[in-house]
Amino acid sequence: MNAIEIRNLTKNFGQKQALNGLNMTVPQGAIYGFIGENGSGKSTTEKLICGLLVPSGGEIKLFGKDYKDADIRARIGVLIEAPGCFPNYSVWNNMMLQAANLNIKNAEEEVRKVLKTVRMEGSASNKFKNCSLGMKQRIGIAMALLGNPALLVLDEPINGLDADGMRIMREVLVDITKSYNCTVVISSHILGELEKIATHYGIVRGGKMIREMTAEELEADCPTFVALKTKDMQTAKALLDKRFSRVTLENEYIRVYDAVKPEEVVEYLYKSNVLVTEISTDKIGLEEYYIDLMKEGR
Ligand SMILES: Nc1ncnc2c1ncn2[C@@H]1O[C@H](COP(=O)(O)OP(=O)(O)OP(=O)(O)O)[C@@H](O)[C@H]1O
Ligand SMILES: [Mg+2]
Repeated sequence: MNAIEIRNLTKNFGQKQALNGLNMTVPQGAIYGFIGENGSGKSTTEKLICGLLVPSGGEIKLFGKDYKDADIRARIGVLIEAPGCFPNYSVWNNMMLQAANLNIKNAEEEVRKVLKTVRMEGSASNKFKNCSLGMKQRIGIAMALLGNPALLVLDEPINGLDADGMRIMREVLVDITKSYNCTVVISSHILGELEKIATHYGIVRGGKMIREMTAEELEADCPTFVALKTKDMQTAKALLDKRFSRVTLENEYIRVYDAVKPEEVVEYLYKSNVLVTEISTDKIGLEEYYIDLMKEGR
């Protein structure tokens, strides 16, 4: 069963059409990376899924039921923008307040459990205002986890985090899909990070889904190449152009996309007195794939 099925969703803000017939399919158990330029409609879609906005048209199904279904609504955790916390209260007290708001039974036990999940069990007595940005985001996720959600919707939870904060967040999110059996939708502009955890992707533009794919499909769609540097890049490029069918010059490296071993390239250039100073095989990643896709549509 799919966690989310959206068909032909529209949302207008006055004259502004934010969503323009968007379709989206998120399989259960996925970590769904939701990507698109500023203003393309990611947050609007997420707010509609969570019932924070009312659609202008179209259909949203969550776990096979209409998104307004009360049982379904109770199983959605959401972090859109910063968590609403009292700055002078401790993390623990903020969590307990949220648990009380949600009528959670065994509140202490539940709060302890979700704080452990987000690696905050040792910081429960910290005042919220003294927490780092990464910690605050994780508290937001802990709050969203109260009530044992089947679906977690996170709007840019890794924005502004340092490398360590991102690593912890990554571990936490992967943990959540496993131990809570939860589907996660996560919007982000930090594609290199997203690529490390996402199992599925959706790319939006102008309020429409322009591509959905699995991580495997992305992988299969991303060509490998031999990247190299020489002292005389122009001569090397000209020589390689004669021998191979797809050679480009990108980011100070020559790339040969033909199915060829690096040593064959080195040998070929060596015979023409061009010394290779650096060589490796590499693969196009999500970021380049996305940039190319965006260029296509212009
Ligand atoms: N409450 C609102 N009132 C009017 N226009 C809105 C409102 N919310 C969003 N919009 C507009 O709808 C469009 C989609 O916005 P949305 O916030 O969903 O984009 P986004 O993909 O989340 O962008 P970003 O990457 O910058 O977060 C934008 O043109 C935005 O200006
Ligand atoms: Mg947004």
